[in-house]
Amino acid sequence: MGFFWEGLPPYLLPWSSQSLIEPRAAVETGTFRGDTTTLLANTFGSCTSIERSHELAAKAQGKFRGDPRIEILEGSSRELLAQAIPSREKSAFFWLDAHGIYDFDGTEAEENPLLAEIDMVIAARDSSNTIIAIDDARGMGTQPDWPAMSEIAIPLGNAGYTTVYLDDIFLAVPQRLKTDLPKLYQESRMVEATAVFHIWPRVLRAFKSQARLDSLVEKLPKSLRR
Ligand SMILES: C[S@@+](CC[C@H](N)C(=O)[O-])C[C@H]1O[C@@H](n2cnc3c(N)ncnc32)[C@H](O)[C@@H]1O
Repeated sequence: MGFFWEGLPPYLLPWSSQSLIEPRAAVETGTFRGDTTTLLANTFGSCTSIERSHELAAKAQGKFRGDPRIEILEGSSRELLAQAIPSREKSAFFWLDAHGIYDFDGTEAEENPLLAEIDMVIAARDSSNTIIAIDDARGMGTQPDWPAMSEIAIPLGNAGYTTVYLDDIFLAVPQRLKTDLPKLYQESRMVEATAVFHIWPRVLRAFKSQARLDSLVEKLPKSLRR
C-alpha cells in the first residue's frame, strides 16, 4: 500500500509493458480478491496467480472460470511459484504480494515467502526481460518475518537487476531500464498530484467543519466538557 495507492500503482503498468517486448506474461503471488489479477491480464496478456487460502482461491477460480488468460493456483507460492514462472523467451512481470503488512499487530506464525520467491525468480529468469514489483516494501526489515531490504536487493543486484523503492513498491528492473526510472518517478508524481487535487475540496470541507466543531466545544461550559 503506497501513500496514494492500495496495491499496484497504476502508472507502473504502462511503463512496464512498454519496457518489456512481446510476448509477455504476468505472475502474481497472493491473489486475494483477484482485482490486480485482472489488471495484470489486461496489461500483459495473461496472468497466473497463486493463493494460499482455500476459500479465496476457490472464489477466484470461480470468478475467472471462462477467462483463458487467467489461471489461479491454490497453495503456497513457496511450492507453486517455480511452476508458474514463464519460460525465458517470454518477457515477464512479477507482482509479489503474498504477504500482509502487520504494523506490528501480526503474529510470528504468518509466513513471509519473499526470499524463497526471489530465489526462484532469479534461478528461472534472465534479468534482461523481467520486472519484479514487491508490494508493502516499507515492511522490509521492520515488520515481523520480513527480510531486510538489503537481503532482497543484493541477490537481485548480483543477478543483473537495478533495484529502487517507489511508492511503497520495491522494484527490480533490467539494468538497461535504469535511465528510464526518472521518467517513471515523474509519472508517479503527476498521478499523485492529480489524486491530491481531486480530494482537496473534501479535505478542506472536513477541516472547516472540524474547526467549527472545535469552536463549539470551546464555548461549552467547562463542567459540561468533562
Ligand atoms: C495483500 S493480499 C494480496 C492482494 C492482491 N495481490 C491484490 O493486489 O489485490 C495477500 C494475499 O496473499 C495470500 N498469501 C499469504 N501467504 C501466501 C503464500 N505463501 N502463498 C500464496 N498466497 C499467500 C493471502 O491469503 C492474501 O490473499
